[in-house]
Amino acid sequence: MGRRVLVVGGGGREHALGWRLATSPSVGAVESAPGNPGLAELGPVHAIDPSDPQAVSALADERRIDLVVVGPEAPLVAGVVDHLAERGIPAFGPVAAGAHIEGSKQFAKEIMVAAGAPTAGYVATADRDEAQAALERFAPPYVVKADGLAAGKGVRICTTIDEAREAVDDALVRRVFGEAGASLVIEEFLDGPERSLFGVCDGTDAVLLAPAQDYKRALDGDGGLNTGGMGAYTPVPGFGLDDVARLRELIFLPVLRELADRGTPYRGLLYAGLVETATGPRLLEFNARFGDPETQVVLPHLASDLGDLLWASATGSVGEVDLAWHDGAVATVVLASGGYPGDYATGVPITGVEEADALDAVQVFHAGTARDGDGRLVTAGGRVLDVTARGADVADARARAYDAVRRIGFDGMQHRSDIAAGI
Ligand code: AMP
Ligand code: GLY
Repeated sequence: MGRRVLVVGGGGREHALGWRLATSPSVGAVESAPGNPGLAELGPVHAIDPSDPQAVSALADERRIDLVVVGPEAPLVAGVVDHLAERGIPAFGPVAAGAHIEGSKQFAKEIMVAAGAPTAGYVATADRDEAQAALERFAPPYVVKADGLAAGKGVRICTTIDEAREAVDDALVRRVFGEAGASLVIEEFLDGPERSLFGVCDGTDAVLLAPAQDYKRALDGDGGLNTGGMGAYTPVPGFGLDDVARLRELIFLPVLRELADRGTPYRGLLYAGLVETATGPRLLEFNARFGDPETQVVLPHLASDLGDLLWASATGSVGEVDLAWHDGAVATVVLASGGYPGDYATGVPITGVEEADALDAVQVFHAGTARDGDGRLVTAGGRVLDVTARGADVADARARAYDAVRRIGFDGMQHRSDIAAGI
């Protein structure tokens, strides 16, 4: 009898987690809350508020869950893991104090600096005059960030100092980000490609996963607005296992030591957003959860038992884990609703998912889908589906993913056509 796992969340990342858990020998059952039509094919889905700690604990009790796996940041920040810990229910994810590393950019910078991790020089302040004066110490482009979570809109990259001065006043005087922008981080611009590196942490130790590259802009050639992520691939050529091992020593272990010393040992996923600059990798940000859509490529690439890995994080034994990876590469293409990341319609019928999913080495993860009253699959979010394929190398994975994309259709469907191109 394998462990009974509850996945909290209902996007593409959670479908990928559920799918990989369902194929783990250590896992006996996968349930989810609130889940989505993809997760519903793996086991029961429960219509509760994933950010309600009492509701999640009660469900875990009722369903005799052995391990709760929290996908998104909102339930972490809301204290779902704190509540589960009080009830003695093992969970994958940090307590609210740990999730603060994502919830406050100033806190994240303090930890990075205290741990000696390489990052951009910065000034953090809630004072308008101090912020304006601080801009003089930086060179263009200027980076002005709201301290708190601002739905992905809190970062302004400004080409002139006048624009940066406006960005400071927008946040601190005009309060366009509300409380999230009541304090700012102004920092040095980091130039180079971005990479996502995930560490599965148990409070003192971390086991690192294969690095991935995300595509954050809406349009081909990195044009258009910032999004949650429009595609990804792994592994990243030139970013090998030895580089990962070095970054574990340079970033992950010192940061875990710093957090433990402050009385908040970190368990769960620590996501390091890195920029590969001319002088080496530097930290852009931390997140307290798996990346979306990077998880949709990293987990299909993982050959080891995901259930055992997440259990080791929850119970303090990642040091005993030795991960294995498949040969080849994985790519995912996000199919988004017309208008995303701006306004978009929902309830639009989707065709072709079964046909695409049946292709060799292809997996279609549900991100923003639902079933209508007649049981038909319809759109229910900005990012709708993550069309994922494994291949002999990145080019082969990319070709297979785009072949699968061509089988799927819905009114207004948009996607980038350059995911994993030229790698
Ligand atoms: P964040 O919300 O911190 O993830 O920032 C959103 C995006 O802004 C990042 O993915 C980067 O593309 C960009 N960005 C943030 N900080 C910097 C920086 N210091 N230098 C260059 N780009 C940045
Ligand atoms: N794909 C970026 C993120 O998950 O934050």
